[in-house]
Amino acid sequence: MKLAEFTDKHNAFREEVREFAKKELLSESTQIDRKGEFPWHIINKIKERGWLGVPFPEKYGGLGLDTTSYIILVEEIARVCASTAIMIAAHVSLACQPLYAHGTEEQKEKYLIPLACGEKVGSFGLTEANAGSDAGATETTVKLIGDKWIINGNKRFITNGTIADIIVFTASQDRTKKTHGISAFIVEKGTKGYEAGKEEDKMGLRGSITSELHFEDCELPKENLLGEEYEGFKVFMETLDGGRISIGVLALGIAQGALDYGIKYAQEHDLNGKPLYKFQWVQKIVADAATEIMAARHLIYHAAMLKDKGEKRITEEGAIAKLYASEIATRVCYKLHSILGEDGLTRKYPMERFLRDTKLMEIGEGTSEIQRIVIARQILGK
Ligand code: CAA
Repeated sequence: MKLAEFTDKHNAFREEVREFAKKELLSESTQIDRKGEFPWHIINKIKERGWLGVPFPEKYGGLGLDTTSYIILVEEIARVCASTAIMIAAHVSLACQPLYAHGTEEQKEKYLIPLACGEKVGSFGLTEANAGSDAGATETTVKLIGDKWIINGNKRFITNGTIADIIVFTASQDRTKKTHGISAFIVEKGTKGYEAGKEEDKMGLRGSITSELHFEDCELPKENLLGEEYEGFKVFMETLDGGRISIGVLALGIAQGALDYGIKYAQEHDLNGKPLYKFQWVQKIVADAATEIMAARHLIYHAAMLKDKGEKRITEEGAIAKLYASEIATRVCYKLHSILGEDGLTRKYPMERFLRDTKLMEIGEGTSEIQRIVIARQILGK
């Protein structure tokens, strides 16, 4: 499906990524899921193409394209392998983006450039055991002692956790101030007192890494503060506004991948001697899925294009896109699954993987309930 607003450059970039996904990833995606191992061999090929820094200027190690191109990249990769796509999304929109938007020139030089050109992997440490949906309840603490920040605490469910070289994370300087007591920092792998911990054994996105992060009297130099003191919550919320578009497009890519496969299966299989695609119930599932996918695609690219036009705040548009796309993706995958009948219950076909992979989209970067709170507050006020 083409949207009227895509430029020739966008369409050409989509073709390039689609070709890559077909040639390099399609035959690997089942094994990536089965083995549950991070697909370094694929990420290395993605890195060689400069795709780990798509929306950042060339002077910061990026490709100098726009947010829409980055969203196209995630969609086309997720259509084939969501485990690979989420690695890219967490790296680009959660780790590189806040460094680009809030980092000093020195921080961009030291951290953004190696991330955007793919030499290093990034991650985003916000969630904690007691601070998931309520991100302002952060229990990780930070104290300025002399000219060092001393960090103590633990993060959970961090995408790219154990493989990340550079991590942006939040800690509270004053827990009584809640969201207004939080600051953002940058830590590098190998820093004394910092360690990534246990990896989760997830139901979906099994080739991606999700782990804990631990800080025990971790010392960071003063210059590792990201943005202003006590402004970390806003830095992270603004980052999530953009991040939610990439979770939305991940959901869209998974739904499109499921539809691609549902159509293929319906064209290649019969039921009692009649081709499956000729049954009205199959046509209804396919038509409904295509309609919902197209609606989600409009919402997602609308939010991305607003960002490209320089819109300062896309809180509402990002949350609407993510909420809608993640919910239709679950519905669409579930319904398409029934085209396969009992075959859908086996691991011989990729449909069950799409169904497992899509669930995270309704949870990561804010649950559907949180998106509804965010949207309602934008419309009605707090
Ligand atoms: N941009 C800029 N500033 C923002 C903002 C935004 N999008 N959202 C809030 N703020 C500002 C507010 O204006 C407010 O500032 P003032 O008090 O100065 O006016 C301040 O931040 C506090 O905001 P709220 O009062 O709205 O904060 P809250 O405590 O009521 O919570 C919330 C808001 C929406 C529930 C928030 O906690 C939230 O989004 N929670 C979900 C967290 C989340 O998405 N976690 C996902 C983790 S990352 C992940 O999952 C990645 C992965 O690996 C898959």
